[in-house]
This record gives sequence, structure tokens and C-alpha cells, in this order.
Amino acid sequence: MTMIEQIHALRVDIERDLAAIASPEDLERFRLAHMVKKGTLQTLTDALRTVPKEDKPTVGKNLNELRKLAENGFEAARATYERRTSTQRIDVSLPGRAATAGSVHPITQTLDRIVDIFTSMGFDVAESFDIEDDDHNFGKLNFAEDHPARDMQDTFFIDDAERADLVLRTHTSSVQIRVMEQMSPPIRCIMPGRVYRNEAVSARSLAEFHQVEGLYIDKGVSMADLKGTIMAFAQRMYSSDAKFRFRTSYFPFTEPSAEVDMSCFICKGQGCRICKHSGWLEICGCGMVHPNVLRNCGIDPEEYSGFAFGFGIERVTMMLTGIDDIRMLYDNDVRVLRQF
Ligand code: DAH
Repeated sequence: MTMIEQIHALRVDIERDLAAIASPEDLERFRLAHMVKKGTLQTLTDALRTVPKEDKPTVGKNLNELRKLAENGFEAARATYERRTSTQRIDVSLPGRAATAGSVHPITQTLDRIVDIFTSMGFDVAESFDIEDDDHNFGKLNFAEDHPARDMQDTFFIDDAERADLVLRTHTSSVQIRVMEQMSPPIRCIMPGRVYRNEAVSARSLAEFHQVEGLYIDKGVSMADLKGTIMAFAQRMYSSDAKFRFRTSYFPFTEPSAEVDMSCFICKGQGCRICKHSGWLEICGCGMVHPNVLRNCGIDPEEYSGFAFGFGIERVTMMLTGIDDIRMLYDNDVRVLRQF
């Protein structure tokens, strides 16, 4: 039998077998007879090698047509008769695969809320340099030349061949000075930003963290305005039924100076983990801007007065979330971040 005759004979077989498929078993039998490596089609294809060169195109073409016919017939029969296993079946009741979305970092969330509350009270937002000169970070804020805060232990100094007075700002109070130098009263401004201190990293402190500074300068601003503003802010941020206490304190740039405690918004003063069982939470440092500071910025303390305050954003976030190790805020562990 010539190759052409063999191809015709096989075509008759394949057409007959295709027509006879009526069950998954028939389908499998067809596959094993014709479609596998040792099946009829491949055997003939292998024999193509023995065909004289001049006949190859015709024989090859016939064989290809037969293969197409077998494959199409097999695929069609398969659609009907193939036995489906459970993994192939589509379970329309399965819930879809949800795409996980990112979220705003808890520190940014806290800052956004702080900004919202103060802007609704008429405050602007200002930012300034992380690298400051000694004058803005200390001098104009009325720090004495030998004040311990200037000490190597607290401050990161910038190694600069041309200027010896550059530091990484240790607090956002430096921005108060920048703002007062550039604007004239009335000034109502909050100043969020990153600050740096040469401190050992622990559960309570980092060498790099965030603060928000507040400043209000106008004619006739009094301590009562300071109290009212801080209480209004804290009631919106933490709890509307909070109690407050103002403790006297000392900062070179304010006189008088105070620190503000608020009754713990979790336990309502009973004592809990968040307030370290004292019933009180320290919320900020503040005071009336020192006349020297106003003068240093070209504002006449006889005409204007004002208050300032400052607090740490990480600390606020920790109080609000119950996170008790500040480092967790920077580990970027999604198991933590996903909760906020
Ligand atoms: N700068 C102070 C600190 O880093 C916080 C502070 C206290 C800011 C009193 C103020 C203020 O504006 O009036 O600890």
C-alpha cells in the first residue's frame, strides 16, 4: 500500500470511529487509538521519512488534512463526552477573590484628623526645613547659650565644612520662628513635621518622630484662649466629656508655661493600661509666647501676645490605638497596619 492509500484507509477508520463515539469510554478509546504518540496518526507521520522527496508535499498535505479532521472531530466529541472531574467543575457559589487595598498609615490618619480639627477652627498649616540653624532651633526661641538641650546628647549636628551651626531640628518650635519672621499678626497656624533627637530607640522613644506645633498671635490673646483652644481640640480628638488639668512647667520660649493632662478617655479616670493606671494622659506642652521670642521675630510684645503648643503625633496615635510600643508604628507589619 502506498502512503496515499494508507492515509485514505485511515481516514475511513477515523471517520467511522468518530461517528461511533457515544460515551466517555468511546472518547478515550478513540484518543488511545489515534491521538497518542504511538497512535495511528503519529505512526503514519513517522513513516513520512521513507516517502520519496518529490511525493512528500502531496503526502504531507493529505496527512495534515487527516490530522486536522481527527483533531476537530475529537475536540467536538470531547465537549460532549468528556467526564468532568470535580476540580474542573466551576463552583458558581464560591466567593470571589477580593483585591486587597492599601490603607493610610495610622500616623498619617492621626495627622489628617489633627489638621481637620485645627483648620475648622481657622488655623492655617505651615511646614519648614528639617535641617535648621542653631538660631531657629534654639537661639530665637530664647534658649540660653549653655542650655542643656543644645548638648551633643540630644541634638544631631550636621557635619558641614562651611557652616558649623546646622542641626536636624529637635522640635517643630523652629517653625514658629520661621512663620513669625515671614508673616505679621494675626497668625493662627499649626506646623506638623518630622523631628530628630539623639536618643536610644526603645518602646517609648525613637530618634526620629513627628510633632505638631501650634501658634496663635494677635492683639489681646490670653491664657484663657490657650486653654479654650486646647480643650476644644482634645474634646474633638479624644473625648467630649474629658476633664483637664494644666500643670505649670518650663519651656524657654513660653512664659508662663504649662503641660496639659486630660482625664483618660478609655477608663474615664479610673486607671487603665493606656494611662498607666494614673487616670490622666499628658497631651501637650504649651504656654504664652515669651516676649523675647516675639521680639526676636520682629513682633512688638507691647502690642501683640500669643500662645504656642506642641505635641508628638506618635504619642497621640498610641493613645488612640492602644499600640504600646512606638516601634510598631514603623515596622510596617501589615498585620498591624491592616487594623487601621
Ligand atoms: N518644643 C517642645 C518639645 O519638643 C514642645 C512645646 C512645648 C512646644 C511648649 C510649644 C510649647 O510650642 O509652647 O518638647
